[in-house]
Amino acid sequence: MAGLIPQDFIDDLLSRTDIVDVIGDHVQLRKAGKDFQGLCPFHNEKSPSFTVSQTKQFYHCFGCQASGSAISFLMDHNHLDFVETIKELASKAGMQLPENTDSNKPRVNNDPVYSILEQATKFFAVQLRQHSTKQRAVDYLKNRGLSGEIAKAYDIGYAPDGWDNLLKHLDNEADQKNLLIKAGLIIEKESENNKPKRYYDRFRDRIIFPIRDYKGRVIGFGGRILDKGEPKYLNSPETPVFHKGRELYGLYEARKRCRDLDQIVVVEGYMDVVALAQFGINHSVATLGTATTTEHLQRLFKATREVIFCFDGDRAGKRAAWKALDLSLPLLKEGYTVQFMFLPEGEDPDSMVRSKGPEYFRNHKNFTALSEFLFNSLLLKADINTLEGRAQLVNLANPLITKIPTGALRSLMQQRLSKLSQLEGQAIEQIIPEVAPPAEIPQPRQRALINRNQRLSRTLVEQAIHIILNHPGFANEVDFDENLVELADPYLPLLLELLRMVKSQPTISTGQLLEHWRGTETLIALNDLISGKKELPDEAIQTEYTGIITALKKNLLKQQRSAIINTSEGKITDRVKNIYKRPENK
Ligand code: UTP
Ligand code: MN
Repeated sequence: MAGLIPQDFIDDLLSRTDIVDVIGDHVQLRKAGKDFQGLCPFHNEKSPSFTVSQTKQFYHCFGCQASGSAISFLMDHNHLDFVETIKELASKAGMQLPENTDSNKPRVNNDPVYSILEQATKFFAVQLRQHSTKQRAVDYLKNRGLSGEIAKAYDIGYAPDGWDNLLKHLDNEADQKNLLIKAGLIIEKESENNKPKRYYDRFRDRIIFPIRDYKGRVIGFGGRILDKGEPKYLNSPETPVFHKGRELYGLYEARKRCRDLDQIVVVEGYMDVVALAQFGINHSVATLGTATTTEHLQRLFKATREVIFCFDGDRAGKRAAWKALDLSLPLLKEGYTVQFMFLPEGEDPDSMVRSKGPEYFRNHKNFTALSEFLFNSLLLKADINTLEGRAQLVNLANPLITKIPTGALRSLMQQRLSKLSQLEGQAIEQIIPEVAPPAEIPQPRQRALINRNQRLSRTLVEQAIHIILNHPGFANEVDFDENLVELADPYLPLLLELLRMVKSQPTISTGQLLEHWRGTETLIALNDLISGKKELPDEAIQTEYTGIITALKKNLLKQQRSAIINTSEGKITDRVKNIYKRPENK
């Protein structure tokens, strides 16, 4: 790999670097038990919640959730790019950067899953132009009023009908099946009685919308059925590179198509995004059939300062908007705004842009400011003609307003509340005497709650990943049943990959492990999974890990048993169906 810094070099560099030295140059660290502690350099705090582990070669702040290896620390703390960081660490460790390292080129992630997804994207695009049944798809798109130009700009494709079009095309040379499964492109059919395994395409007879990450790499697909049928849209499953609750369809394209993304319109559907783009509204993105999440908002506010959520005007739309409002409040730093657009019932952005034209989406008269939506919604609940109603208004509004970071918007909203309730600003502030925490940083009590919730909602595989990340050595000490690769779990490929890495580098540290995912979306998931419950003694955790593996084996048995009744798509195989139905029919 000419021009890139090889992973081996990074592994080697990290094994000769001590994170405690690196961070110790910038933060005063004190030994606390096994670890080191200090005041977090990434947020303001008075008591130390920043922990550096020498064994794990990993740091974590319990206050602001900053975490990572020595490399991430230097990148974030000294605002260096990746190559500059590597150079600095290498000179400290007395190592020479490998020749041919082109310091202008970022290190690209060469996970083959990206390349197979790219190949699939090409395949689907070609089918829309060449397949013998392409006319069906072309007619559908034409009927929906989509131009060829837009189809091309968004790489829209067609997955023809049939069980193995993509499979045949991509699995001809090397055995790519595992990769295709990892990418979410094919599904393994449960085999009966030791017959060879069978596989089939996930996307069949559907219009295909490739979903790209912020770098433009395809990470998954959405597929719309051509006729009526269920589900209307089929999305890629969760994979190591695709996490539905985080992604925004069209963000990469919007950034490419707009020189300045001074605003972004958030809509609900793939079709909405492409229809808007066709009418010149290039700055729209869609969530992927999930409610707005904080991760969405963080991603949006990295790309723009003005977010406009477009929802239906019905009750469900208002509810969704309220959720978006609630999550937005802590992110409304000075200069950032959120607005809403409520469409008439029965309309969506696709239909609106066709009937009213693009101006509808540019006209500020159609936008509702967040502050207006907030007060109007609360005024429906609290009657300010009575004293009690005004008290209620204060009690409803105050906790929301204090979520906004200190600044003009927050002050103005407090002023508004004071006017509406006829309660002096000072009196309102006294109701909740404590100063609201800075944005994004949970207070200690909330934090404990979040951690507990995280733990409770973690699946077994996620728990196993959590343990392996923190104690990589267990991968070699505890047997992992080979059969477990059959387990249908979105995170299983990630666990397997971690185990494989530790097997090949038995002394690898947490920090080193993480660096293998630098520049990928998976790193976010890994960072989430790393934190968790309080440290127990190693033996206790090893016992827990062994218990998880045993539980996974049981799950596999269950899965295999139910597979006899159901295929993985939920259909009952004909033979079993007959046996199964007989008692009912009689
Ligand atoms: P809608 O049902 O509102 O569809 O789903 P739409 O975008 O207007 O699509 P058309 O116009 O009928 O083609 C909105 C979004 O919800 C997700 C998809 O992301 C879709 O774009 N969705 C919907 C699913 O993931 N699965 C479904 O079965 C339906
Ligand atoms: Mn629609």
